[in-house]
Amino acid sequence: MKTLLHIDSSPLGEASISRQLSGEYVRRWREFHPEGRVIRRDLNAGNFPAIDGAWIASVYTPEEARTPAQRDTIALSDRLLEELFAADEYVFGVPMHNFGIPSVLKLWLDQIARVGKTFAYVDGAPVGLLKGKKATFIVSSGGVYDPGTAMASYNFVEPYLRTVFGFLGVTDIEVLSAGGAAALRYGKVDRETFLKPHVEKIDGWFEPALA
Ligand SMILES: Cc1cc2nc3c(=O)[nH]c(=O)nc-3n(C[C@H](O)[C@H](O)[C@H](O)COP(=O)(O)O)c2cc1C
Repeated sequence: MKTLLHIDSSPLGEASISRQLSGEYVRRWREFHPEGRVIRRDLNAGNFPAIDGAWIASVYTPEEARTPAQRDTIALSDRLLEELFAADEYVFGVPMHNFGIPSVLKLWLDQIARVGKTFAYVDGAPVGLLKGKKATFIVSSGGVYDPGTAMASYNFVEPYLRTVFGFLGVTDIEVLSAGGAAALRYGKVDRETFLKPHVEKIDGWFEPALA
């Protein structure tokens, strides 16, 4: 039985492009894996905590020496790690905010990048410990940042996600860029027309698998 971890990070709820497209991915994934399990993590539900000094001290304290208070401090981090290791595959809805990832996604990354858990140093070199996982990032942005375009060098979303997940051991990475969403805001295109090529791309990922 396969497990998919579905993570959204847009604050825009039903108006969100990245949420709608990650939802489409999950819908197709469920068709392909009727017995599969989907773990849902909505980073905008509630207040996602930033790591602090107590958190850092806890993770660098050997597990067997941690006090009950230290265990409490990293309980959320431990739960998020369980979700990551339980899943075979991840899909993320990611809005571009100020040329980078949204702050809640960074807060989540700070919680899950843990030495000895998701990465380690072997003979002084970093080794990612999230092995055999596949990650799909569905990135929505107001502008267009595709390679070769004038704004390509402003895109700190895709390179960052590839780098940090690569560091954690995830190298099977797919990115769908839904750029140009500003046209929607200015009424230059309707939502369905804007979404169509992206929905088709997602469907295309599953078609060969379903055939
Ligand atoms: C706080 C904020 C910052 C944004 N920063 C950028 C940006 O740097 N570049 C860009 O092209 N679009 C930017 N946008 C537009 C969003 O990327 C765009 O609306 C996208 O559809 C957001 O994804 P969502 O609909 O899933 O929330 C920003 C939007 C917001 C709300």
